[in-house]
Amino acid sequence: MAETLVQPDKLSDSQSEYMKLIAEIMEIRKRGEKPLAYIRTYGCQQNVADSEKIKGMLSDSGFDFADSPDNADFILFNTCAVREHAEDRVFGNVGALKNLKRKHPQILIALCGCMMEQEHVANRIYKSFPFVGLVFGTHSLHHFPELMYNSLVNGKRVFERGNDDNKIYEGIPVRRDGTFKGWLPIMYGCNNFCTYCIVPYVRGRERSREKDIIISEASQMIKSGYKDITLLGQNVNSYGKTLENKVSFAQLLKSIDSIDGDYWLRFMTSHPKDCSKELIDAIADGTHISRHLHLPFQSGSDRILKAMNRHYDRKKYLETINYAKEKIDGLSLTSDIIVGFPGETYEDFKQTLSLIKEVEFTSLFTFIFSPRKGTPAEKKDDPIPYEEKSKWFRELLDVQEEIAAKRCSSMVGKTEKVLIEKETGKNNELEARTSGNIIVELEAPKELIGTFQNVKITKARNWILKGELV
Ligand code: SAH
Ligand code: SF4
Ligand code: F3S
Repeated sequence: MAETLVQPDKLSDSQSEYMKLIAEIMEIRKRGEKPLAYIRTYGCQQNVADSEKIKGMLSDSGFDFADSPDNADFILFNTCAVREHAEDRVFGNVGALKNLKRKHPQILIALCGCMMEQEHVANRIYKSFPFVGLVFGTHSLHHFPELMYNSLVNGKRVFERGNDDNKIYEGIPVRRDGTFKGWLPIMYGCNNFCTYCIVPYVRGRERSREKDIIISEASQMIKSGYKDITLLGQNVNSYGKTLENKVSFAQLLKSIDSIDGDYWLRFMTSHPKDCSKELIDAIADGTHISRHLHLPFQSGSDRILKAMNRHYDRKKYLETINYAKEKIDGLSLTSDIIVGFPGETYEDFKQTLSLIKEVEFTSLFTFIFSPRKGTPAEKKDDPIPYEEKSKWFRELLDVQEEIAAKRCSSMVGKTEKVLIEKETGKNNELEARTSGNIIVELEAPKELIGTFQNVKITKARNWILKGELV
């Protein structure tokens, strides 16, 4: 079971009052039976971390959690706007709740997250999904109890977006999904405005949490048994810039790394434009820092990188990668790539292919460009048809598959420390991960889930390894 960890500061008193009021309303409605909430999270780990706060607030309002929407009293979808496909899934899944609301009119259906910060989306929900009673954006999270209370008592639909005050609200209770693997946000928002990306518009300006608060939360997590902690931010390399006492990300990482305990420390995402030698040295010299660098390059073509407003070129990216490879033993590299940015030619795309061949990433997150309303790239000429982009995309996957297979094969025979995470669902196998974030499947007793073990790698199958306990 997940537990509620309370962060150092207190949530504003008024929100705690609203949580008590919600608990009272639900107690009357349910005649003493525990109310149930169903939360579905789309998108990246920032959204997962936000959902864990919402679950913390719901838990403090007396709710338990359901695995399906069918028996829930409160249904919430935390949405992602990063690509059209993500948005379409949300619209489809919300539409499917219409019948449930008809059968159980007393349930409250809510939507929140990145999609809801877009005016055209909130308007569409308002018009086309009248059974959705509560909508709030990423900037309204800290007063979710108040919004929920209002929609419960007034019987009116509550919609709130554009509430960006550029602040950080500490003290929101967190109910983490995992007991040994956890997310720890260190900053919010993004100032980079890559021309394809919606994130800066829906998550607001970059702001960092105070170093002491982060360190105290990390210590609490380590004390309560977390073995794999990922520090989160859209661009962790610019951590600390908004703080009065300036701290670099490398300094923060080193301070957390100095906390005693048996754990791994990860972070995402690093932006190549300011991935410093200081950071790479911190990984190389670290005790707990995983030997993994996720450094999204998006495109191997300088022309496209410029059009994307990424502020680095291929040469600078490769210099960073080569320095990291030289310094960090057993380094595992991963990246994000966009195929078919407006104006990209096959020649540009070939530069992306040559870059992945040169670097040899462990794995890649690859996306076909998706136009996002209000971003500069949406307005650009985009003459290459989607079918053509899909062909390039498949070519990229084929090349990467070979590279991943080669990288994985080179690990056969080695002994690796892994964290055992879950059952695979096949035979008696468990799934574990290396420090480099590579999946290892092995036969072992279930009791070992949540522990570090040494495993000998016996086989490689594409990008997955097989191993046995040493
Ligand atoms: N802050 C992170 C990325 C967050 S979004 C970073 O800068 O690396 C995760 C990934 O989604 C991006 O790296 C990019 O590859 C992809 N992405 C973002 N917007 C996109 C769009 N409009 N179309 C296709 N892929 C996109
Ligand atoms: Fe989007 Fe770029 Fe910010 Fe990442 S750094 S969230 S890709 S704008
Ligand atoms: Fe999606 Fe928002 Fe994350 S748009 S990728 S959930 S920051």
